[in-house]
Amino acid sequence: MDNAILRVRDLSKRFDSEEVLRGVSFEVCKGDVKIFIGPSGTGKSTLLRCLNRLVEPDSGQIWLGDEEITRATDIDGVRRRMGMVFQNFHLFDHLTALGNVEIGLIKVLKMPKREARDFAMSELARVGMDRFADKYPAELSGGQAQRVSIARSLAINPEIMLFDEPTSALDPELTGEVLEVMKKLASGGMTMLVVSHEMEFVYSVASEVLFMEGGVIVERGTPCQIREGNAHGRPCDSNPRDSSRSFPRTKAFLKRING
Ligand SMILES: Nc1ncnc2c1ncn2[C@@H]1O[C@H](COP(=O)(O)OP(=O)(O)OP(=O)(O)O)[C@@H](O)[C@H]1O
Ligand SMILES: [Mg+2]
Repeated sequence: MDNAILRVRDLSKRFDSEEVLRGVSFEVCKGDVKIFIGPSGTGKSTLLRCLNRLVEPDSGQIWLGDEEITRATDIDGVRRRMGMVFQNFHLFDHLTALGNVEIGLIKVLKMPKREARDFAMSELARVGMDRFADKYPAELSGGQAQRVSIARSLAINPEIMLFDEPTSALDPELTGEVLEVMKKLASGGMTMLVVSHEMEFVYSVASEVLFMEGGVIVERGTPCQIREGNAHGRPCDSNPRDSSRSFPRTKAFLKRING
């Protein structure tokens, strides 16, 4: 794929004796929404963390555009290009919602305070949180806190957004508001790499679903291919070469998590 903006080649990572990533390769084009699924402990979080250098891979390469980020010395620069949203929000407790979004603009992008404030407000509005600008994280619901965390990442204007199970710490009634924000981002053309097992969401936004097991991507396909046919029961017309694949491991996993 010539127009890939992110290329991951043969990425491996070992923690002590455990091989957590065993040769992971994939490419991402602008506007792609790649969603990783798979059992606990298969290296999904480690993979996303390697992408923005929170974890150093042992071998393999990651290219973001023309820059090999596995060799980059400006790690903050890499993180500016790839925003990350975590399961547990990672907000600063002593700052308001506005303060949490503003701080990166002031400290990282060196934006003047007044400008940062206006821009942060518009980012909060984008996730429907402008009304809560003066609230502290402790005063927000989990869904609201996660939306602030998304606004904070978006404010830096990253090329790619990484989401590691952004709704798995939320009560079920709060996941919807976060998934809605993510759907809106996806339909606006944001390039996204997501770990999520909210399958309705996965099927509605993923350009590709990648099933990981034991540190490798074992199966990958479009939502349509994985569900065997489109919503009307007709076979997928995209990529007919792959439509006969049966995705046995992915399906066995989905059956286990869905009962
Ligand atoms: N910093 C670390 N030090 C040692 N081992 C680690 C570290 N981070 C992850 N691991 C181990 O690597 C393996 C993969 O972890 P990882 O968090 O990437 O899996 P995951 O697929 O995201 O799982 P989950 O679905 O539970 O989030 C696990 O066995 C985990 O214990
Ligand atoms: Mg994880």
